[in-house]
Amino acid sequence: MKNVINILDLTVEEIDELVALADDIIACPEKYQEACKHKILATLFFEPSTRTRLSFESAMLGLGGSVLGFSEAGSSSAAKGESIADTVAVVSSYADIIAMRHPKEGAPLVASMHSAVPVINAGDGGHYHPTQTLTDLLTIHHEKGRFDNLTIGLCGDLKFGRTVHSLIEAMSRYEGVKFVLISPEELKLPSFVKQEYIKDKHIEYCQSTSLDDVIGELDILYMTRVQRERFFNEEDYLRLKDSYILTAEKMRLARPDMIVMHPLPRVNEISTAVDSDPRACYFRQARYGRYIRMALIMKLLGVRA
Ligand code: NCD
Repeated sequence: MKNVINILDLTVEEIDELVALADDIIACPEKYQEACKHKILATLFFEPSTRTRLSFESAMLGLGGSVLGFSEAGSSSAAKGESIADTVAVVSSYADIIAMRHPKEGAPLVASMHSAVPVINAGDGGHYHPTQTLTDLLTIHHEKGRFDNLTIGLCGDLKFGRTVHSLIEAMSRYEGVKFVLISPEELKLPSFVKQEYIKDKHIEYCQSTSLDDVIGELDILYMTRVQRERFFNEEDYLRLKDSYILTAEKMRLARPDMIVMHPLPRVNEISTAVDSDPRACYFRQARYGRYIRMALIMKLLGVRA
């Protein structure tokens, strides 16, 4: 049994295998429709979600398995004061695999220590979000055809944006990758990511507070939402929330083959006028999330088509 708490729990080779499996599922989904027959996925979501929870559930249903779970802490025994350890110890006797989202950093790791079945981190506070990164990698593979020699601009809330942290960790393992970090001073990338995965690995990077100044250099622009729920006060959020808005005009400064990614939900940071630009791939990205989660569930359960 294996857990996926951090994207680095998977080797580069395992990621290649997942991408290849996801590609095959996309090509012939009917081959996989009974792969997880009689298997149960539990989705334990202590924090709001649309795509992550529904794509996990849709993935398991597409494999012929079943799903159970809850989508808010208030409807679980956490509201009565039950610990994560106890909740998971019990749920692991009801399900074969668990996907957990929690507002506290490290909660899925604690869960994995008390679970008899594999635990997948579906987002822990402002920390990590490895299955969004798998989704991002499948998107990059389809849209750019490679993981190496890419200049990736990450824009918005780099401090609390857990998808950014996991994506940087994953991409730091490929040759010739360069990061362009675009954020206001207050929302800069935290040192637990910057030091270990950029500086210590001698990866080329630059920082900017201006999207216009750097957009022309990018192969990928990864936009993010300012993470309101992680702020300590509303005033700071209101001041920073519209720091960057990608418009059709700004897209004119970008390369013709640059792609725009976003984990979604979008609030205001990408104008809807950009949606019809062929370089905007965030809705395709959301679709890839289902297929890569199908591949991940199969691998962790050790099942084949
Ligand atoms: C992201 C998350 O939950 O971190 N959403 C997602 O899973 N697709 C990004 C966000 O909420 O801003």
